Amino acid sequence: MKSKKLIIGNWKMYPASIEEARDKFTKIKKGASVLRNVQTIICPPFIYIGDLKKFITGRRVGLGVQNTWYENEGAYTGEVSPAQISSLGISSVIIGHSERRALGETDEMVNKKVSAALKAGLAVILCVGESERDRDGHYLKHIDNQIRIALRAVSRKDLPKIIIAYEPIWAIGKNALRAASAEDALEVSILIKKTLTSLYKKNADNVRILYGGSVNGKNAQEFLCNSQIDGLLVGRASLNPIVFSEILKSAENIK
Ligand code: 13P
Repeated sequence: MKSKKLIIGNWKMYPASIEEARDKFTKIKKGASVLRNVQTIICPPFIYIGDLKKFITGRRVGLGVQNTWYENEGAYTGEVSPAQISSLGISSVIIGHSERRALGETDEMVNKKVSAALKAGLAVILCVGESERDRDGHYLKHIDNQIRIALRAVSRKDLPKIIIAYEPIWAIGKNALRAASAEDALEVSILIKKTLTSLYKKNADNVRILYGGSVNGKNAQEFLCNSQIDGLLVGRASLNPIVFSEILKSAENIK
């Protein structure tokens, strides 16, 4: 399970129409479904999930969602529950993305969402990351803390369903300060492993670690080879089937 590279596309609130979503998804799927060493997951807006699901055939390309609520039913206008997601046959959910945290999602809410998603049988892509780096290493403490709160009450047996994506906020999006380096990602991937080992001892090996933030066709391989990660969480570049295919091919060819 751990040996395949995991490449996840987070489409955020794009594209603008279902026609474009179908076009992009079918193009990505065509290239991705021949890759043996890569598991590809596309996370489109909720509204497109039912339609795109019809294009799923094998296991190499799957669909995930970008958020969930933490109750399975109730008067929560506009929210979607883990049970509803799982009833559609969708198996992964991104939780705690920095763009959701910026809208008011707290560490405690992230923790509740993680627990609810696991209970519904979903795999969780937990996003963590600092807004800025400081010389004293406070950002490492911040990430350690985000993980400890998010995984409160998550048992060892659920660890294979946890994927942690390190996404430094300063490296995300078209206004990113700079792209992170493979060393930046390596430092945090080591920190994440330490945090997990302190929480779970040797069972922590089951947790996959991803890097996300301005990943493109040119830097993907560098991150995959030099940051001790199991895959990538890709934003903008996952909406361009040509560039995303380059990323997938880099992952396929890693020795
Ligand atoms: P970009 O790849 O567009 O920087 O976005 C990263 C991200 O937020 C993925 O979740």
